[in-house]
Amino acid sequence: MSKVVAIDGPAGAGKSTVAKLLAERCGFTYVNTGSLYRAIAWRAFRDGVDIGNLPGAFLDSVDLRYEKGVLLVDGVDPGPALRTPECAAAASRIAVQPLVRKFLLPVQRRTAEAGWIVMEGRDIGSVIFPDAAYKFFVTASVEERARRRMAEHPDGKLSFEEIKKMISDRDYQDSHRAEAPLRQADDAVFVDTSELTVEQVVETLRGYMKKNPRE
Ligand code: DC
Repeated sequence: MSKVVAIDGPAGAGKSTVAKLLAERCGFTYVNTGSLYRAIAWRAFRDGVDIGNLPGAFLDSVDLRYEKGVLLVDGVDPGPALRTPECAAAASRIAVQPLVRKFLLPVQRRTAEAGWIVMEGRDIGSVIFPDAAYKFFVTASVEERARRRMAEHPDGKLSFEEIKKMISDRDYQDSHRAEAPLRQADDAVFVDTSELTVEQVVETLRGYMKKNPRE
């Protein structure tokens, strides 16, 4: 058993907020794996490398490390540059490439060597840590996820319909790829957050963990 709380689910379901809070309350390290895919896309943009088919030599040149839960790319925290919608869309595109997923597998597994972690992504319970101590699949309706996105970026230029379309497109891309598609692991606990507050979701997960203690 790996000392991992795996939280998987689609874009915009509130995984990051929930995973961060859960980690804080449990005293575990929080690890966001979407940042890894975003970091590679960002580095490729910066270097002018075609993101359609990233070569192994380029991937080998990217140094990705977590320090106290913060992702460092070549030793530097790229900050908000990774959070743009362009970077998200590019991350989703490169995430279909088997070479990229193979490159990121050991990077992710290494993060659990130092103790308990809460790791969020798309394939944590199904591929990265199939033996995770806890597995949750956290989701919400597309409408609700678009509403939350709008509330987070009230000055954004995109309309509700445009955001909804971006979310649906990313859902489709993430769940229809051949390599490690977004799917609920058979033994994951399903949590629909559409009608729940962040606090309620965190306590649902914590409640489950308390009721099902692992060594
Ligand atoms: O969680 P996020 O929105 O930051 O993720 C960005 C993209 O990275 C997402 O659209 C798909 C990809 N991703 C993935 O394929 N596997 C993961 N474990 C995490 C993210």
